[in-house]
Amino acid sequence: MPTTVITGSASGIGAATAALLRATGHSLITVDLRDADILADLSTPAGRSTALAQVLARCDGRLDGLVLCAGLGAQVDPASLVVSVNYFGAVELLDGLLPALQKGQNPAAVVVSSVASAHLPWDKNPIAAHLEAGEEAKAQAVVMAAGARGGNLAYAGSKNALTVAVRRRAAAWGAAGVRLNTVAPGATETPLLQAGLQDPRYSEAIKNFTAPIARRADAAEVASVIGFLMGSGASFVHGAQFHVDGGIDAVYRPTQF
Ligand SMILES: NC(=O)c1ccc[n+]([C@@H]2O[C@H](COP(=O)([O-])OP(=O)(O)OC[C@H]3O[C@@H](n4cnc5c(N)ncnc54)[C@H](O)[C@@H]3O)[C@@H](O)[C@H]2O)c1
Repeated sequence: MPTTVITGSASGIGAATAALLRATGHSLITVDLRDADILADLSTPAGRSTALAQVLARCDGRLDGLVLCAGLGAQVDPASLVVSVNYFGAVELLDGLLPALQKGQNPAAVVVSSVASAHLPWDKNPIAAHLEAGEEAKAQAVVMAAGARGGNLAYAGSKNALTVAVRRRAAAWGAAGVRLNTVAPGATETPLLQAGLQDPRYSEAIKNFTAPIARRADAAEVASVIGFLMGSGASFVHGAQFHVDGGIDAVYRPTQF
């Protein structure tokens, strides 16, 4: 039975993925702020260290899978929290758990990024260099100085850097025998999306963000792609980003892929 860690397991895409992985025979170690095996706040360095130490203790230093779903929406105040959870809450777990994954059987990891990862391209992303350098306080300062634009900058900037961080790790993780991919959901019916819709600063933009498949995804539709990427059917898929977005990326960026 594969032992798999999943963050953000208490809600939305993480909860749907946890249910799917359990049903397909994974033994899960769940990490979240609530309703999880390991209660840890991934917005702080101390919380991330706690999560890593407790995961490694529970799995005895050997893991077969890792799914990183924990994340915050653009509406969260302060916007600096979005940077910390969405970028550092994922990248520090990736790096900290690679040695354990290397000891696993057919090991694989999936990181939940977003279609927003393409909305602020790397060369125009004002927090990209800080994030890649691990400069959390400097990246936080940039988004806090952006005022009303801070939420969008924090969300799109951290998701852009997160997808890049995964792609930058493709060579080393491939050599280590651990597959690593991202999924990029479009609008998905979860509490995160509902919180954005209830915020007057973001509700119009979310309502207008309509895909060719003219509805929002169900969390289970994102989970099924994560499940595929974690399984043997994806044994040669590595360093890729899978859009689960009803076609919206193709409409916005037909010449870029
Ligand atoms: N819902 C969408 O439309 C959408 C679109 C694209 C990408 N995403 C991404 O999908 C992922 C899951 O989002 P969701 O929509 O299921 O949201 P959600 O709010 O339903 O679930 C997010 C989970 O992350 C956990 N979390 C948040 N902050 C945390 C912290 N500091 N420490 C530990 N856990 C924390 C929450 O407790 C929650 O259980 C996120 O990374 C999000 O950015 C969502």
